[in-house]
Amino acid sequence: MKKVTKAVIPAAGLGTRMLPIARVVPKEVLPVVDRPAMSYLVEEAAKSGITDVLIITGRNKEAIENYFDYSVEYEQKLVEKGKTDVLEIIHGDINLCRVYFIRQKETKGLGHAISCAKSFVGDEPFSVLYGDDLMYNENYPVTKQLIDVYEKYGKAVAGVAKVDPSVIHKYCSLKVDHLENNIYSVSDMIEKPKPDQVFSYYSILGRVLLTPEIFDILEHTAPGAGNEIQLTDAMKVLSQTVGMTAVEYDGKRYDLGSKAGWLSANVEFALRSKELGEDFRKYLKEIAAGL
Ligand code: UTP
Repeated sequence: MKKVTKAVIPAAGLGTRMLPIARVVPKEVLPVVDRPAMSYLVEEAAKSGITDVLIITGRNKEAIENYFDYSVEYEQKLVEKGKTDVLEIIHGDINLCRVYFIRQKETKGLGHAISCAKSFVGDEPFSVLYGDDLMYNENYPVTKQLIDVYEKYGKAVAGVAKVDPSVIHKYCSLKVDHLENNIYSVSDMIEKPKPDQVFSYYSILGRVLLTPEIFDILEHTAPGAGNEIQLTDAMKVLSQTVGMTAVEYDGKRYDLGSKAGWLSANVEFALRSKELGEDFRKYLKEIAAGL
């Protein structure tokens, strides 16, 4: 079985739920405390054993590339000021993996974005980290959880969580059979189901691990919900041909593509921060007392 060493991070979406800011600052580089979301994702990939990451970007997303490059003039000034410790942190952060970029020329959907990764991926299994979904699990990264299931079953893996029935129509719904513990086999799925189309309240949220057969399937996938080429439609075919499993992952997910999700991530990561945690906790308690 081939080892999973590559990851793809789709980050070309328009981010309309984060307007007006997303028009000038890509949502993927909005800060969570002091680092862009994208930096947390690459860190999760690296901690999971990934060595090479392809970020799918688009027009006006240059800030993502700039973050992973050196800024020579700025860094020289840090050296002159004796701030070499900060420089080491910055360089450590941006060199966790080899990072590559490709542009999705038209935002035709997540499935279309993934198809842009075909030549990068070649004939290997690969992880997908949705560019606006931040996961928190300090000890066992969610991407690693999916890789472990792949290594056991040899099939693509969907990272799933149960969603509230009242919002399932905004996500996808999976038909699953229990295999063991938190692992399921998948036999069907639908994107943005109508009430009579819901299979279960298990939905794919933020992480998947795909096998290379997905690229041929995507080539034949017509636009679906929202007139976009849906990854869900292609994964449905994958699940019914070569097969697919699902793992109910252990981790807290923050939807950074929504204002509420981005705010929650900042509050909770600030509370966890060694530098800010104590003072910020005090501040929050004061604020909360007056609510
Ligand atoms: P989303 O649906 O959450 O992103 O896609 P979006 O389209 O930017 O969101 P809104 O609804 O306009 O606010 C999940 C992930 O897939 C990427 C997004 O960048 C996000 O990380 N994506 C989506 C692409 O890379 N290309 C696309 O055509 C669509």
